[in-house]
Amino acid sequence: MVASLDTTFLDHSYENPFMNASGVHCMSTKELDELSNSKASTFITKSSTSVKRAGNPEPRYRSVPLGSINSMGLPNEGFEYYLEYATKYQKKNSKANPIFFSVAGMSVSENLKMLRALQDSDFHGIVELNLSCPNVPGKPQVAYDFELIKEILTQVFEFFTKPLGVKLPPYFDFAHFDAVAKILNQYPLAYVNCINSIGNGLYIDAQNESVVIKPKNGFGGLGGEYVKPTALANVRAFYTRLNPSIKVIGTGGIKTGQDAFEHLLCGATMLQVGTELCEEGVTVFTRLENELKEIMDRKGYTSIEQFRGKLKSL
Ligand code: SIN
Repeated sequence: MVASLDTTFLDHSYENPFMNASGVHCMSTKELDELSNSKASTFITKSSTSVKRAGNPEPRYRSVPLGSINSMGLPNEGFEYYLEYATKYQKKNSKANPIFFSVAGMSVSENLKMLRALQDSDFHGIVELNLSCPNVPGKPQVAYDFELIKEILTQVFEFFTKPLGVKLPPYFDFAHFDAVAKILNQYPLAYVNCINSIGNGLYIDAQNESVVIKPKNGFGGLGGEYVKPTALANVRAFYTRLNPSIKVIGTGGIKTGQDAFEHLLCGATMLQVGTELCEEGVTVFTRLENELKEIMDRKGYTSIEQFRGKLKSL
């Protein structure tokens, strides 16, 4: 028996559910090309702002024993750079899977401006609106302000008709899962992506009695093993609360095939890999696919749909 990882997302068939998480291995055209030539079934660009940003001072990313801490501050080449790459890529690879384009404006109006440009462009992939970056000093994570989520989505869906998802921060309370899901269910969203890093953790180098990244006195977003249980909880919480038309992308702590299997059990459709992609490079996708297939073979599953979302309660 050979397990198939075929995944249907927004009416398109992908060979497997794996892709990068925005922010990792997707800043430059070289990195994006490497993703497109890897075993990932698609990829997403670095969250862009309307103009190029240098981001926060370095060191701003550190690999730590159970994952990573970062305070990148949205360094990126600017919206036009990624739009040009994406539209050229689509023309050159007309049969390729739809790709994802991430935007993270510094204000509602900046987000609307980029989304208008995407709407008017030839881009025919999927757009991810990042409402959850924890690393820009003075800019709180948008999706922790529920009124602001409504304000943005109401304005976006007045004109935006291409497939659009939102990248969410982790939530930690049932009242917040309920409140956010109730808001999101009012809009024609294609998907939610759970989760961005757990914002504003602090990793300490005890030997040197110091923080390990420079921005924000060492506070930064956590990724990797630290965040998997929180990521799974958010995937599950939104999968069980959102309209079935709104898919869930699982991101957070996917290091092995088993982590991927767990995200799928919770209801994720696509899976994004961040910290482990940074550690291992693009060959991580080959390993994850093999490990996930081995688990499915062992359990007698021939397709992901046989177990996706079917987490048992006690
Ligand atoms: C960053 O550039 O600071 C990371 C992006 C994010 O967490 O959304």
